[in-house]
Amino acid sequence: MDTKVLSSGIRYSNLPANYVRPESERPRLSEVSECEDVPVIDLGCEDRTHIIQQICHACMQYGFFQVINHGVSKETVEKMLQVAHDFFELPLEEKLKLYSDDPSKTMRLSTSFNVNKEKVHNWRDYLRLHCYPLHKYVPEWPSNPPPFKDIVSNYCVEVRELGYRLQELISQSLGLEKDYIKNVLGEQGQHMAVNYYPPCPEPELTYGLPGHTDPNALTILLQDLQVAGLQVLKDGKWLAVNPQSDAFVINIGDQLQALSNGRYKSVWHRAVVNANKERMSVASFLCPFDRALISPAKPLTEDGCEAVYRDFTYAEYYSKFWSRNLDQEHCLELFKN
Ligand code: OGA
Ligand code: NI
Repeated sequence: MDTKVLSSGIRYSNLPANYVRPESERPRLSEVSECEDVPVIDLGCEDRTHIIQQICHACMQYGFFQVINHGVSKETVEKMLQVAHDFFELPLEEKLKLYSDDPSKTMRLSTSFNVNKEKVHNWRDYLRLHCYPLHKYVPEWPSNPPPFKDIVSNYCVEVRELGYRLQELISQSLGLEKDYIKNVLGEQGQHMAVNYYPPCPEPELTYGLPGHTDPNALTILLQDLQVAGLQVLKDGKWLAVNPQSDAFVINIGDQLQALSNGRYKSVWHRAVVNANKERMSVASFLCPFDRALISPAKPLTEDGCEAVYRDFTYAEYYSKFWSRNLDQEHCLELFKN
């Protein structure tokens, strides 16, 4: 392939060989279950106890849920999706100015997952941004499309609020103080991946993103309403997380699995691609601050429950995560006691 990114305007008629997975690793799309969906939780419900119970159930059984009446305005969401779309429509030369395959960069356009570590590539381009504190990072964000910085800043602020609210509910659902997670994670980092999955000539042979777990604490995903693609592993079977209007998809990351002493799962998920349509998603990741010490919450290691993982700092975990390929064993396995 002669360009670094897939969003070059070229429409491929065959999947290039370095995107083809070996037979045993292919997505087997016909086996994906369509009859079960992850729980949808109404955050506008007045009964907080009921919300907390639903979150507890979703986090234990699925590691994923969707939220509606979440407080992020419809206008903010629509503008975010539009500007994300406009970004990937920019001329190739404009986008290539931002290209990098160095994961330590705080702003970059890249492709696949970790092109220098992986053997087979993934059918995805992505723009990755650091988003907190905004005043530190916005200056390095793309200035084209012109409204990008304003729209994305505004989106980040609203999504962060939602993330804090969810962390309070998740803390309480574990029987911990409302501020427990917030206090442990410290001044949380916030990253964004704007994912662009172009139409793919042979979706059965490859992935947008292969199965992985998220290394951060909590992920808030906005997915394209028109095209499905996200799938979650439950009881050994892949389930499609069908887009639902006015919803965000929430998932527990590795850090909350560790903090909850394994009670809540950072579940394997993947994105598959589509033959005819492009798909977009915007993932916001809340991350512990670098020196945050992640250890199982005390109340969850009493009464004979041993700590499943050793203590570690987030910086240590994160560098381990990016030193590997995506589709290996769960990164947390390396931190087991
Ligand atoms: C991710 C992710 C899923 C999607 O960015 O970590 O899992 O549907 N994305 O794009
Ligand atoms: Ni993910």
